[in-house]
Amino acid sequence: MSDQSSTGKKVIPIVTAAPEIAVPVSPTGAMIRTLGLVSAICGLIIVGAYQGTYDAVAANKRIATERAVFKVLPKAKSIEEFVAQAGGGIARVGAGDTAIPPGGVKFFAAYDEAGKLAGIAAEGVGKGYADNVRIMFGYQPDCQCVVGIGVVAMRETPGIGDKIITDKDFLANFTALDVKLKADLSALANEVKAVKHGTKTGAWQIDAIAGATITSRAVGKAINDSAQALLPRLVPKLDTLAKKS
Ligand SMILES: Cc1cc2nc3c(=O)[nH]c(=O)nc-3n(C[C@H](O)[C@H](O)[C@H](O)COP(=O)(O)O)c2cc1C
Repeated sequence: MSDQSSTGKKVIPIVTAAPEIAVPVSPTGAMIRTLGLVSAICGLIIVGAYQGTYDAVAANKRIATERAVFKVLPKAKSIEEFVAQAGGGIARVGAGDTAIPPGGVKFFAAYDEAGKLAGIAAEGVGKGYADNVRIMFGYQPDCQCVVGIGVVAMRETPGIGDKIITDKDFLANFTALDVKLKADLSALANEVKAVKHGTKTGAWQIDAIAGATITSRAVGKAINDSAQALLPRLVPKLDTLAKKS
């Protein structure tokens, strides 16, 4: 083997030692401490934000609920929240109470300026085209009928399903929708149901919006299921709600 290049110059081979790569020692303890600290700070921030905004969120919720009730019962000036219990009685829901007892049905008693019962409002939910349609409806004991509806939440198609809040003919279904009970007060006398546009024959039926029958049916099911659960418990106790407590 020659150590001369093609130019005749002597080539001195350069031998370098491979650089030593420092392998970092995993600081497991330090990492765990740092992660623990970050988690604790994040937890504190989340809990602090939740507690700091809890009262404001509850107050906003209350205002939104009141607005929804006042919309379906225009004579109402104040509301009180109740639950119709599974056992048959009705109980007032206090300001701080968030949990409804198992099997209970929540409702609102609405009072006029003089403190006289202006009607009952309750929520109901039915499956629509895109998602659940959540509504509030107003109930008048005098006529045993639904006298107004409002939408609490829905994700129906704009221009199609959302006509349930704009279509005057559809809303006319709820000037006196029949939800009377059977003579023994055990259940609704008739199932509340949306029927194809133009085929309504009974006062308990809802004339659906043409092209939005699915959303219309969701409203019918929401009222039917809620009224079916609430009214047999509520109607026998209506006397106790006649005046604001
Ligand atoms: C893109 C799209 C969105 C629709 N959105 C709704 C809706 O929000 N609510 C509804 O009832 N029907 C909706 N429909 C119509 C239903 O598919 C169906 O045709 C209608 O509810 C049936 O009512 P009809 O028998 O009166 O036509 C939608 C249809 C399409 C193609």
